Amino acid sequence: MSFKQNFFTLNNGNKIPSVAVVGTGTRWYKQEETPDNFNNELVSQIEKALTLPGIVHIDAAEVYRTYPEVGKALSQSKKPRNEIFITDKYSTQLKVTENPIVGLDTSLKRLNLEFVDLYLLHSPFVTVEKNAFTLEDAWRQMEKLYKDGKAKNIGVSNFSTEDLEKILAICEIKPQINQIEFNAFLQNQTPGIVKFCQSNDIILEAYSPLSPFQKRPEHSDTDPFYKFINSLTAKYSKTEAQILLRWVTKRGIVAVTTSSKFSRVQEAQNLFSFDLTDEEVEEITKLGLKHKAQRLYWNEEYDKYNNQSQQ
Ligand SMILES: NC(=O)c1ccc[n+]([C@@H]2O[C@H](COP(=O)([O-])OP(=O)(O)OC[C@H]3O[C@@H](n4cnc5c(N)ncnc54)[C@H](OP(=O)(O)O)[C@@H]3O)[C@@H](O)[C@H]2O)c1
Repeated sequence: MSFKQNFFTLNNGNKIPSVAVVGTGTRWYKQEETPDNFNNELVSQIEKALTLPGIVHIDAAEVYRTYPEVGKALSQSKKPRNEIFITDKYSTQLKVTENPIVGLDTSLKRLNLEFVDLYLLHSPFVTVEKNAFTLEDAWRQMEKLYKDGKAKNIGVSNFSTEDLEKILAICEIKPQINQIEFNAFLQNQTPGIVKFCQSNDIILEAYSPLSPFQKRPEHSDTDPFYKFINSLTAKYSKTEAQILLRWVTKRGIVAVTTSSKFSRVQEAQNLFSFDLTDEEVEEITKLGLKHKAQRLYWNEEYDKYNNQSQQ
């Protein structure tokens, strides 16, 4: 069977693979980086992912403290640089480095790269007291990194419409991406964010796309949402994860997933050997919306929006 890959086109004309198959946060995340907690399992997972066909999309961030593993896997891979898409993020909430310019310079050195494919501000939670710069200053630094060619694309993560409006009011270069928590059980991380980004030509990325499988309700076997997903796994001979990841991409959103099992990474990279019909996409959307909001990240900041997140 021939391999097929899908891409989205960003507002600067560049392309991004529609699935990131190795997220190096969540299950791989570390509170601190020490010589003792180097994770060989993660190195092996990235190395194996880099043997897959097509452009392999890896999602990293300074706050995950997994640069040693990502760097090692990259240095051992034979995959050409133009077949690797690397996302990195500047940590705005927990201070790891001084500012975005220092942050990216540091990670490029640590990963032995000349550029990243995408650099994001990890969250909008920036204050002069904490960070010594404003959100607008942070974005101007992102623009400099873009102009210097150190980040081929720039964007944000966990931004609400109000946060994006602040950037859009001052920017010379519009964010290409907003990476948010998105899945069938959380269809708007913050009020109206999906429609806002899609109408402003900002591509969304969905982390936590498999939330309905990470945390299943009791009696999921009789729940109409899960029963429908199961009927599609049988119809297409695909796994339930593939059905949900494909649904995310059919909504026009990049899926950012991860797994400790290579077979799942492989399934995510090989997502475009089947398609869902528009009616099936609509039905997953509709059945998902019947579930109450299931938010796994940024609860302190965004739980207040739970009753508007399933709209
Ligand atoms: N920007 C942000 O603030 C932010 C926040 C969170 C995450 N992220 C990024 O997004 C990446 C992915 O996030 P995520 O881990 O929440 O993604 P996810 O794709 O929703 O979840 C991945 C987890 O689901 C499990 N899984 C896969 N298939 C499954 C199935 N069929 N049934 C049950 N469990 C299944 C995997 O476990 P196995 O290992 O057992 O396969 C893995 O632990 C992170 O690594 C990080 O790079 C960004």
